[in-house]
Amino acid sequence: MSQVKNAVLITGGGQRIGAYLVRQFIQQTDYPVVFTYRTPRAEVHELVSLGAIAIQCDFTAQEALPGLVEIIKEKVVSIRAIIHNASLWLNDKQAPPFSEEYRALFKVHVEAPIFLNQNLHSLLLASNDKFKDIISLSDYSVSRVTDSHIAYLSSKSALQTVSKGFAKQFAPNIKVNDIAPALIQFNQNDDEEYKKKRLNQSAIPIEPGAEVIWQAVDYLMNSSYTTGSILQLDGGRHLL
Ligand SMILES: NC(=O)c1ccc[n+]([C@@H]2O[C@H](COP(=O)([O-])OP(=O)(O)OC[C@H]3O[C@@H](n4cnc5c(N)ncnc54)[C@H](OP(=O)(O)O)[C@@H]3O)[C@@H](O)[C@H]2O)c1
Repeated sequence: MSQVKNAVLITGGGQRIGAYLVRQFIQQTDYPVVFTYRTPRAEVHELVSLGAIAIQCDFTAQEALPGLVEIIKEKVVSIRAIIHNASLWLNDKQAPPFSEEYRALFKVHVEAPIFLNQNLHSLLLASNDKFKDIISLSDYSVSRVTDSHIAYLSSKSALQTVSKGFAKQFAPNIKVNDIAPALIQFNQNDDEEYKKKRLNQSAIPIEPGAEVIWQAVDYLMNSSYTTGSILQLDGGRHLL
């Protein structure tokens, strides 16, 4: 297969919001889509059948990231955008200090984005598109803090810092922004009581779904002037 140009790379694209973004890029743009996934599942095959390039990679595994960069460089001559979507949602009981799970939060949310930004910088610069973007997905709760997910939120807070740092380092050629979503999509095992509580936290009490992430990504990628920003996507949660 010949190498593709102006690709959009989405990490953790095998399900939910990541998979939605893969589909949107395929349907709404001409950019070839490359996505990483960790767990093989039917949705990955569906996305490949639509034309996306899928690369399996567990960001916590030793040597996974250098291997990923090598494969990307075989398949892609230039990158239009990188979207750091891969994420682990663990509470403090699931990820106590010094555990593998604690380290995994920082590998997935901090080390992998830094490594990919540094090692794919030349492919972004090789894009002939008017704009080049890196977008990370952190979490609205970074600015509010919940006392059950301190490690998770620390790692997402670090991700925001990573994006601001690269916005400075890569300006003016590459824009780097973060989207900090509040409730977007419930998890399968969330019960009705939890859902009600979460909905009541926002001025706009809806489960908006991945479409609002797409709207934010679309805005950021088409903006000529926004870089180093944290876009709060919170349904007015900060008002309550
Ligand atoms: N959903 C919401 O309401 C919400 C709210 C706030 C922030 N966000 C943020 O928005 C983004 C997307 O949310 P989501 O709910 O769609 O997330 P999600 O369902 O948890 O999916 C995240 C993806 O990350 C991948 N991943 C996890 N561990 C990995 C590892 N070790 N190596 C490589 N990939 C790994 C998973 O891959 P596999 O499935 O292949 O294992 C999964 O596809 C995330 O960054 C999340 O923090 C979402």
